Parts: sequence; structure tokens; C-alpha cells
Amino acid sequence: MKAFILDRYGKKQALRLGDMLEPVPGPEDVLIEVEAAGLNILDSKIRDGAFKPILPYKAPLVLGHDLAGLVISVGANVRRFKVGDAVYARPRDGQIGAFAERIAVKESDLALKPANLPMAEAASIPLVGLTAWQALVERAQIKPGQKVLIHAGSGGVGTFAIQLAKHLGAIVATTASAANVAMLRELGTDVVIDYRSQKFEEELSGYDVVLNSLDATTLEKSLKVLKPGGQLISISGPPDPAFAHAQGLNVVLRLVLRAMSAGIRRKAKRAGVDYSFLFMRADGEQLGHIAKLIEDGTIRPVVDRVFPFEQLNEAFAYIDTGRAKGKVVVTLK
Ligand SMILES: NC(=O)c1ccc[n+]([C@@H]2O[C@H](COP(=O)([O-])OP(=O)(O)OC[C@H]3O[C@@H](n4cnc5c(N)ncnc54)[C@H](OP(=O)(O)O)[C@@H]3O)[C@@H](O)[C@H]2O)c1
Repeated sequence: MKAFILDRYGKKQALRLGDMLEPVPGPEDVLIEVEAAGLNILDSKIRDGAFKPILPYKAPLVLGHDLAGLVISVGANVRRFKVGDAVYARPRDGQIGAFAERIAVKESDLALKPANLPMAEAASIPLVGLTAWQALVERAQIKPGQKVLIHAGSGGVGTFAIQLAKHLGAIVATTASAANVAMLRELGTDVVIDYRSQKFEEELSGYDVVLNSLDATTLEKSLKVLKPGGQLISISGPPDPAFAHAQGLNVVLRLVLRAMSAGIRRKAKRAGVDYSFLFMRADGEQLGHIAKLIEDGTIRPVVDRVFPFEQLNEAFAYIDTGRAKGKVVVTLK
């Protein structure tokens, strides 16, 4: 089958369109004809080699963490899906490879695609949707009336997380540049802070939750926004000891991650705030809940650009600018 192959790790390394062996589905797997695949910064970071200690994929490999497509066969133990179903997924770590014509995905990572979305829009959802769900529903357990700051509201995670937080009844602030204010208002954002001309840490206070996806300086400034007992959840690091434990990392890596997050954990403790790192995981059941929110119009995908599959490297160059407004997708059909 045709696939984009990462032959060796390297910063901004181009992917090669070539032939890969067909996936061999196991009894719990569903084989999918990929119609569209979403790009994520995680793909760029893996390509660059930044994730090698945590996700030690061996090159050559096929990247791609988001897909939508049609079921073409199911394993012997698969019960919930049948040939012809339109599905979407974020396949689990170790089983990625959406930048290919076909992929085998565990049944438990899969859900029926939102019925009202074309394949390209459906493929934009899984990774960012699950990240927002796991941060705001599972971890923060947002209650109506709580105040939530979502950094980088115009990005892939931000555009989804804002809509989910509003659905949960939160008052939502975000950081963004002036050009994106109108779009963020349309998504329901209550307060938009222009990060180029305003200091969010001086404008906002008494917040219950901050979702950080930016750098260490923003993370530290975010402590000032939170009230005592608030939660600082970061998806851009630094990873904490609980994450190292959950990933089953070796003792050396555990010590390294403990040291990397020692500063922010100490400062959070001093401020009476809980700091945690979140690394999203595949979850088909949660994707099912998300599909319902999309079908009833609560959440809509924000897709910035759609490229033909052959232009995957151009699509990567675009997300690598860090300026995407919502998601970037490639289509195979
Ligand atoms: N741990 C996890 O499970 C997990 C899951 C998903 C993502 N992540 C991480 O989260 C980060 C964000 O991911 P993403 O997919 O949302 O990224 P993205 O879509 O590439 O984000 C791009 C957006 O960020 C905005 N932005 C850039 N600098 C900003 C700043 N200083 N303040 C406010 N907005 C800013 C840009 O707006 P302008 O063009 O206006 O600047 C652009 O719209 C990445 O590091 C990614 O790896 C982690």
C-alpha cells in the first residue's frame, strides 16, 4: 500500500511517499481504508526525534495519529463494527500510521464517525477532542460557573477545548492574537486576551483551571491566574512523576522527569495549586461521546487547511509554522 514513510529521525525531515507492507490485523483489530488523516504537533515532535525516550518507534515508520475512513474487515473478536462502517480514531501509541492507505486499529480505540461530518472534518477531531475531554471532563471535572483559561485558543486543541468548556458551563478565557478574536468569540469564548499586546497574568484572576499548551514561561505565569485549590494542567510539559509512572518508564527516565518538573511542582505547591501533566490516550468510548456533541451541533470542527495526500510534506511545513487556525488534514479519497 502507499504510505508516507519516515526513513530516519531528523528535525523537519521530509517523509517519503512509498510502498509499505499491508497491516496485519489481529483478532481485536478493525482494518480501515483511510479516507482522511489529521496532522498533529505530536507527529512533528516524533519526526524530530523529541519523543524517542517516551515513544521509542524504530524507523522506518509511518506517522499519523488521526484518521477517518471505512471499515474493510474486522478481527474475529470484534463486536461493535462491521464492514462498511464510517469510523474515526486516534489509534493507540505503538499502533499509529494514519498517513497510509490502510491501518489496523483496536476496536476499543474506534468510534463511528459523526454522521454530519465529511471524512476530512472527522479526521481533524480525535486527538485534540480526546485531549480536551481528558483534561476538562476527566481530570478537571469542570462544573458550571467555573472559570477556565485555555491558552492558544486558535490552535487545534484550543478551538475544541473552548467549545467543550462552554458546553460544560464554564466561563472561558483564552490567549490568542488579534486576528483570531472574531473566530474565538464565535466559538463562545467569554474573554480573549491578545497575547501580543496584553499580559494575561495581569488581566485574569481567581480562575479554577488553566489548560496550558505553551512554553515554560507561560506555564509559570499561569499560576498567578489561579485561585488556591485551582488546577494547572499542562499538555506541553514538563512531564511529572505520575506520567512517568503511568508510562512505565525506567528508573533513569523517571528521575529525569521528576527533576524536569520539580520547579513548577514546587511553585504550584507554594501557590496552593495542583500541577499535573496530561498525555492523552486513545479511547473509542470517549470518541463516541464526542461524536454525539458534534452531531447535536454543540461542537463544530475548525479546519484551517485540507491538503491532498501527496502534499503531506507541505501540510507538515504549514503546521510547523505554529500559526495554524484549528486543524490541518490530508485527504486520500
Ligand atoms: N500532551 C498531550 O496529550 C497533547 C495533546 C495535544 C497537543 N499537545 C501539545 O499542545 C501544543 C498545542 O497543540 P495544538 O495542536 O493545539 O497546536 P497548534 O494547533 O499548532 O497551535 C497553533 C496555534 O497556537 C497559537 N499560538 C502560538 N503561540 C501562542 C501564544 N504565545 N499565545 C497564544 N496562542 C499562541 C497560534 O496562534 P497565532 O498564529 O495567532 O499565534 C496558532 O493558532 C503542542 O505542543 C502539542 O504537542 C499535547
